[in-house]
Amino acid sequence: MEAFVNGIRLAYDDAGCGPAVLLVHGFPLCRRMWHPQINALVASGYRVIIPDLRGFGDSDAPAGPYSMELFADDLVALLDHLEIATAVVGGMSMGGYILLNLLERHRSRVTAACFCQTRANADDEAGKARRLQLAQEVGEKGPQVIADTFLPLLLTDESLAQRPKLVEEVYGWMVGTATTGLAGGLLAMRERRDYISLLPTFNLPCLAIGGASDKIVPPAILDVFATGLPNCHRALIPDTGHLANLEAPGPFNAALLEFLAGLTGKSYTHDCC
Ligand code: MLT
Repeated sequence: MEAFVNGIRLAYDDAGCGPAVLLVHGFPLCRRMWHPQINALVASGYRVIIPDLRGFGDSDAPAGPYSMELFADDLVALLDHLEIATAVVGGMSMGGYILLNLLERHRSRVTAACFCQTRANADDEAGKARRLQLAQEVGEKGPQVIADTFLPLLLTDESLAQRPKLVEEVYGWMVGTATTGLAGGLLAMRERRDYISLLPTFNLPCLAIGGASDKIVPPAILDVFATGLPNCHRALIPDTGHLANLEAPGPFNAALLEFLAGLTGKSYTHDCC
């Protein structure tokens, strides 16, 4: 499906009926990374909305600059388009950075937050320099430079060695991404603010979930959510990396569904299709 919102065409999946759950993909990925979650959530009575962010997947990839504010505003415009007042929002890695921005600027639209394989801190100076260098390289050499850089970081060494189909699929998403989207995403992440001091103000039900062997967001970084947020559960999926939801969908879905089930009966709007 697609919608024309906030001046661009956004592609998205919309499945099921029940309380809305909006899942936001990471960098340099696309909405397909959430496919192992769709059936499980729909079967449990949720409506799942999964967009491709601007610049990624099948959505338009206009010239930048991109920002976390712009990504967040696109998502709010999509919720408006779908007439969804509030949703549980899950954000994976860069999707988590966008979720933090949503909580800062569009708090009333989020009933609960699920931080997946993500972090609350901003880039340090060395990280910012790497983002800039990669953004320049992707402009010169194309998406392959990003795919080659990120692939070894996204999956565990075991998945890289033993799951060729998964490796091929994830690599294919990355090399298929528009260079404007990749550069835009890198520079948006480079400019994102640090949210650690704001975490105590986000007083809504939260889940911090991640891979025990994540090379990009090690458990100690993920734990900042559990210690900083007033109401945060924590789940660590064994033997998984940055793509924990793809590497072990069963345990990931179980943790997510347990969190969602715990919200029932609280301030939870039922948006039904
Ligand atoms: C992501 O998965 O979205 C990125 O790895 C996040 C990042 O590079 O900070």
